[in-house]
Amino acid sequence: MLKKTVSLIILFFAGLSTVLAQNCNIDNLLPRPDKIVMGNANSSFELNAETNIVYDWNKKDLTPAVKELDRIAVEIFGKKMKKNTKAHGANNVIFKYNSSLADEGYILEFTPENILISSKTGAGAFYAVQTLKQIIPVQAYETPIDLKKLTFPTMKISDNPHFAYRGFMLDCSRHFWDVKTIKKVLDILAMHKMNRFHWHLTEDQGWRIEIKKYPLLTKIGSKREQTTTGRNEGMDGIPYGGYYSQSDIKEIVRYAQERFITIIPEIEIPGHSLGALSAYPWLGCEGTAGNYKTWPNWGVSNQIACAGRESTFKFWEDVLGEVIRLFPSEYIHIGGDEAPRDMWKSCPDCQKRIKENGLNNEAELQSYVNNRIEKFLNDRGRKLIGWDEILEGGVSQSATIMSWRGADGGIAAAKKSNYAIMSPDSHCYLNFYQTTDRPDELLCIGGYTPLRKAYSLDPYDKLSKDEQKYIMGVQANLWTEYISTPMQLEYMLLPRLSAIAEIGWCNPSPEEKDIEGFIGRAKELSRYYCAFGWNFGRHFYEDGVQIGW
Ligand code: ACM
Ligand code: ZN
Repeated sequence: MLKKTVSLIILFFAGLSTVLAQNCNIDNLLPRPDKIVMGNANSSFELNAETNIVYDWNKKDLTPAVKELDRIAVEIFGKKMKKNTKAHGANNVIFKYNSSLADEGYILEFTPENILISSKTGAGAFYAVQTLKQIIPVQAYETPIDLKKLTFPTMKISDNPHFAYRGFMLDCSRHFWDVKTIKKVLDILAMHKMNRFHWHLTEDQGWRIEIKKYPLLTKIGSKREQTTTGRNEGMDGIPYGGYYSQSDIKEIVRYAQERFITIIPEIEIPGHSLGALSAYPWLGCEGTAGNYKTWPNWGVSNQIACAGRESTFKFWEDVLGEVIRLFPSEYIHIGGDEAPRDMWKSCPDCQKRIKENGLNNEAELQSYVNNRIEKFLNDRGRKLIGWDEILEGGVSQSATIMSWRGADGGIAAAKKSNYAIMSPDSHCYLNFYQTTDRPDELLCIGGYTPLRKAYSLDPYDKLSKDEQKYIMGVQANLWTEYISTPMQLEYMLLPRLSAIAEIGWCNPSPEEKDIEGFIGRAKELSRYYCAFGWNFGRHFYEDGVQIGW
């Protein structure tokens, strides 16, 4: 009887490894790699608990790829892989340097003896491992058992991204997301080969970044007495707050760096500033009541920082000085959106500034602010990004525009040779509804962006070949007025992030787009989301043949 049971177990594991080989996820990779060439149908490579990693230990930027491979091995085989600097025989994952590849590109090759990963950079090696992670059948992550081996057909994958900028923005001010949640978001971005995390840190509803020179920003500005309910219908009466200490930020920046994600911090200037104004009322204009409160409502407050007084510029520069020391990113985002300039109209200081500088109106005063802040950043080796409103009073040639009110801002920027990131609300706002099946949905900000709409984004629409050069990439955004739990955050983020990720990595032309094929791959990818414990929306076929998972 015992013998029979053992034979059955052996048969079961043998069967499992065959199943796993058959189920290698090659056709459903998302983002889709540039090129896959299959090898001899009768040859294969077997990955198992004894496979070694071979790499040059002096190449520090390979560490993230090696660590990621180890995380996969622990998940599947229950232990890390052995490491060598040279291959001794077969059964290795070998990292190789290849100077002829693009910056984030890679070649991932399965031979009968080894897996070979070639890249010019650590990022390329990391993305090769991400591809490998998805080729591994999802059952391997779902069934954590020992004795597993994975058999891959021989093949060669050559890949590299279309856009250098593949971003995601998270609003951490309307609702605050703890360090653990931010790390989970970074893991999700890494799996989608996204490389920018735009961190929205300051708002009317809360200031979320510790600034040593201005401690009241977090002591007062990070808290609100209560939060509105519904669509600004009532108040919940519950105090709300939270902020990232500088040590939290350093930890998160490091975590992101290990996934080749650059964090772009956003400090809103000059609007969306009630968090700061509540802490330091002297930042406000003359003639305002000065009795500012971190806002419990959603919407756009008409309060704004005063652009007439030097003390405001000193504040902005002090804050950005600390921000620059925390974030190595070349780009710093200064917001600039939805800044009602009415307070400036009646403020003697702002009007004096307008007159003294020969400005024509308040829009030009906002440009004056942007130009001074940009110079401050440039003098310190950094560059400015702002939402598309910064175009309104004229913008410097070196500023980068983030187009959100549709694509018009990005198009206007590219036409005047300013770099732009395409993030139109119509396709990239993941806080919009993803389904028309509303009774089961939690209240959303509004809008309607199903998965197929997100995938239909064409960042080059209406641009000539020459103008297209100024589109640095694409970005998905998640504003969190109506999103208050990590479960809900993930539900809104996935699977639509995969659409923007695929546009960022592959950017298929409108003729090349295979929408049904993409949706099928996104659905397959969602099995990995399940295996990794990530929540997601099940509305793959909205507007199509079938609603639901
Ligand atoms: C924005 O959605 N206000 C950039
Ligand atoms: Zn003023």
